Amino acid sequence: MMPFDTPSARDLLDFYRDAGADALVGEEPIDRFAAVDAPTAPLALRDPAQERVQERVQERPPRAAALPAAGPQALASPDAAAVSARAAAKSAASLEELRAILETFEGCGLKATASRVVFGDGNPKARVMLVGEAPGRDEDIEGLPFVGRSGKLLDLMLAAIGLDRSTVYIANIVPWRPPGNRDPSPHESAICLPFILRQIELVDPDFLVCLGKPSMQTLLGIKEPITKARGRWVTFNTGQRDIRAIATFHPAFLLRSPLQKRFAWRDLLALKKALAG
Ligand code: URA
Repeated sequence: MMPFDTPSARDLLDFYRDAGADALVGEEPIDRFAAVDAPTAPLALRDPAQERVQERVQERPPRAAALPAAGPQALASPDAAAVSARAAAKSAASLEELRAILETFEGCGLKATASRVVFGDGNPKARVMLVGEAPGRDEDIEGLPFVGRSGKLLDLMLAAIGLDRSTVYIANIVPWRPPGNRDPSPHESAICLPFILRQIELVDPDFLVCLGKPSMQTLLGIKEPITKARGRWVTFNTGQRDIRAIATFHPAFLLRSPLQKRFAWRDLLALKKALAG
């Protein structure tokens, strides 16, 4: 494009894609929880894009009869969805069951815009479990956590202390990609929390590594900045037993701030030492 040319529609789309807005969702924010009880809007006030998303949510197949009911909470209040998520997550006796429950869980609006559940990757019997925040575009496409640019860096970081996906297990707080890679809202994280807690309980690792501040805050309840709290061992109760947990910088942050890698390196060495001890 010449410097003073009027940008074309294609340029605009490229700009949006480069900025991470690569999912067509709608023109207005949608409160899917409020939508269920809302009276039908007069035709003139209806938003066709919103209605399409609503239809996609409602069209999803009912969950299998063998699984605990998690369907009726679809688009219910966040509290009702969180209660239902807790009951559903608790009922999972294995990781396979937990994944199956998530596949049919309708209580989190993120499911409507994500392509699939990004459940976990690695060795479910690993001694180390790492938890990030939420899948991005690459993870949404492949259905596996940390396979994009930050995942490649994570693999290198793990390799530096002799670990790989056969010796660790990886998951996220939220198993669906938020549209346009936005941060999950506190409500979305709260609804998904029982699932990741149960996932940790079922993997039963000896060490939990929180990747980034949202994971640290959500799982460890630490409110301090991650620049202060990273690298400090704390106790995490899995529901069955106490294990050791540590927070470190998220690989996506390290890609943006390579100078901080030296601190992440210290955290990795602390993990390596703990594993050997
Ligand atoms: N960032 C995350 O927090 N999780 C992923 O799976 C990918 C990127």
